[in-house]
Amino acid sequence: MARTPLVIDTDPGIDDALALLLALASPEVDLRLVTTVHGNVELAQTTENALRVLHLAGRSDVPVAVGARSSLVHPQPERAGHVHGAAGLGGVVLPPSPAAVDPRPAVTALADLLESSAEPVTVAAIGPLTNIALLVSVYPDAAARIGRLVVMGGSATRGGNVTGAAEFNVWADPEAAAVVFRAGLPTVMVGLDVTLPTVLTEAGIARFAAAGPVGAQAAAVLAQYLDHATSSYGTDGVVVHDALALTEAIVPGTLDVVRRDVVVDTGHGAGRGQTLVDRRAVSTSPTAVAVAEGVDSAAAVEFLVTRMERLAASLS
Ligand code: RIB
Ligand code: CA
Repeated sequence: MARTPLVIDTDPGIDDALALLLALASPEVDLRLVTTVHGNVELAQTTENALRVLHLAGRSDVPVAVGARSSLVHPQPERAGHVHGAAGLGGVVLPPSPAAVDPRPAVTALADLLESSAEPVTVAAIGPLTNIALLVSVYPDAAARIGRLVVMGGSATRGGNVTGAAEFNVWADPEAAAVVFRAGLPTVMVGLDVTLPTVLTEAGIARFAAAGPVGAQAAAVLAQYLDHATSSYGTDGVVVHDALALTEAIVPGTLDVVRRDVVVDTGHGAGRGQTLVDRRAVSTSPTAVAVAEGVDSAAAVEFLVTRMERLAASLS
């Protein structure tokens, strides 16, 4: 099977951690690089978390390059420690990785990979889009070589999760999201419309928790997320936003998408960070974004749990 080169740009983060493990459990993709970004917690912590999650899965060989510590223009008002834990992994302290970060800045490492890869590279962006916006601005020729850009972010019909209007990743850096969504890249927007219905239940978590120590650690990381979801949303499981985006990156076509014009509200009113998705028609614009509007949530959850079981068993 030809494996698709994959980069994950991430702000671990509990669901980011699960998404990283899912990528490592999937033979369809070859994780070539992880780039870190500010977001759920501060950059130094998201970077440390990325190193430790890769090490947990025995993949400290995957380079980790450090990206933007803050938003492009306006400082991000707050982090998401109340959701992901102060250190970003639900209070779980994973063993430290022996690996050091890549000496190159994230944007340079990403540009180098895009320029050197003979195969089109899929980039899964599952945090604020600051690094991707910088790539577009500093290395436009490299950005144009992206095979697919799968973004976890935004919302077409479900409002927001960090404010009434905005989804966290877009809200954390609306100016960056605006640059990315109008760049004309082959972008899939995996927003709250498809992530909120896709709930990983306790029973699913228990399946991979029982499959081996890495599954048990992943379940432990998810525990705080589960408590937050149950108390905040009243759901009987967790919404693993980033893992659904990675599922689309791993298996293109998992989600039903429609090409739409997407505008990001970069104002400073109540709508800041909102993704205004024009659903009046299918867009023919070269800068249209493939917006995910349909999902088989049960199939997506089964895909995730089965892969996590397999990974945990292989590492036990
Ligand atoms: O809105 C969900 C997104 O915000 C996910 O990427 C999660 O990790 C948080 O960063
Ligand atoms: Ca994330």
